[in-house]
Amino acid sequence: MAKTRLAVVGVGLIGIRHAELIAAIDEVELAAVADPSEVGPREAARLATRHYADYREMLDRERPDGVIVAAPNQLHLAVGLACVERGIPAIVEKPLADTLEAGAELVLAAEAAGVPLLVGHHRRYNPMVEATREILARGALGRLVAVNAVWAVRKPAPYFDATWRRTTGGGPILINMIHDVDCLRHFCGEIAEVQAYGSSAIRGFEVEDTAVVAIRFASGALGTITLTDAAPSPWGWEAGSADNPNIAASGQNCYRFLGTEAALDFPNLTLWRGAGPEPASWADPLAATPLAWAGHEALPQQIRHFVRVIARAEAPRVDGRDGLATLAATMAIKQAIATGRPVAPAAAPAAGARA
Ligand SMILES: NC(=O)c1ccc[n+]([C@@H]2O[C@H](COP(=O)([O-])OP(=O)(O)OC[C@H]3O[C@@H](n4cnc5c(N)ncnc54)[C@H](O)[C@@H]3O)[C@@H](O)[C@H]2O)c1
Repeated sequence: MAKTRLAVVGVGLIGIRHAELIAAIDEVELAAVADPSEVGPREAARLATRHYADYREMLDRERPDGVIVAAPNQLHLAVGLACVERGIPAIVEKPLADTLEAGAELVLAAEAAGVPLLVGHHRRYNPMVEATREILARGALGRLVAVNAVWAVRKPAPYFDATWRRTTGGGPILINMIHDVDCLRHFCGEIAEVQAYGSSAIRGFEVEDTAVVAIRFASGALGTITLTDAAPSPWGWEAGSADNPNIAASGQNCYRFLGTEAALDFPNLTLWRGAGPEPASWADPLAATPLAWAGHEALPQQIRHFVRVIARAEAPRVDGRDGLATLAATMAIKQAIATGRPVAPAAAPAAGARA
């Protein structure tokens, strides 16, 4: 069977990983990469593929079956639209776009053209995520009361050489916290309202280096997220899950779910509950039961899923509207920080609103 030909736009930190995976996965072929910087030709030569400085030229000449958009956030709309206009399915890395308006424009354009659009919230392809969702959905914790999430790392100084990461449209809320927002939406349901504080006191950039968020879910459950890219810690998705070779694994938990009958930590998936039929009271000892799950890296699963979406054999697991809802909740956090007031995520545009 002919291999699915995929191209990558932007071969920086994450684009290189996508390109390497495509080159390594049997059912796909790396058709070309586009990147105007000096890394473009270098990576293309290393991966034995063609290089283009201009992604439009690459799309027109190569006509790939699908594209992974891994350029800076501020370019996602332009590159995504170029794919949609040519009828080429795309995975756009998260955030879907650097503004809500840009994200909505891309989603509506893809819907109008009938072109599959996926958003790179790759954590959803990790089996421990589905295991957790299933544990929560079957009521193993009773009614969900609250959840807390931490993502704390110290990024290396050269990471910030790329201007886009420290200016409007970049920053760790849009680059990193958006993953946790997406996971919490996936686990706990829609976010009704957020309150938040942000700080740039450590790095002094235009964008935040630290933020804390309080969440009210539509279900009535409450949540918090603590984020910083300026403090070393063992707590965060990648450290806990060992799902990213660029971040040292710690095996520590990054989420804690609290229910009326039991508690669950994540990603270790240990269920804490009393031995009796009634929920444990504070004096009752809690038994810790490890729940089994088989982990693997999520990014290759996302690529395999993309192949099936391109063949129209599956619907996108995280489609443009899903990515837009996560972006809306994330932008609500930024707005809450800017205004000092609680903010509800903006509603999605009606289908066909563009026309
Ligand atoms: N899913 C994840 O876990 C994950 C991880 C990291 C980054 N990301 C996202 O991926 C995107 C890229 O992040 P990064 O950290 O790899 O950034 P990066 O700065 O390391 O890489 C971006 C690359 O895009 C290139 N580029 C710039 N303009 C371009 C253009 N016009 N056409 C083609 N390429 C262009 C740059 O030269 C650079 O090589 C961002 O949207 C980021 O939020 C996702």
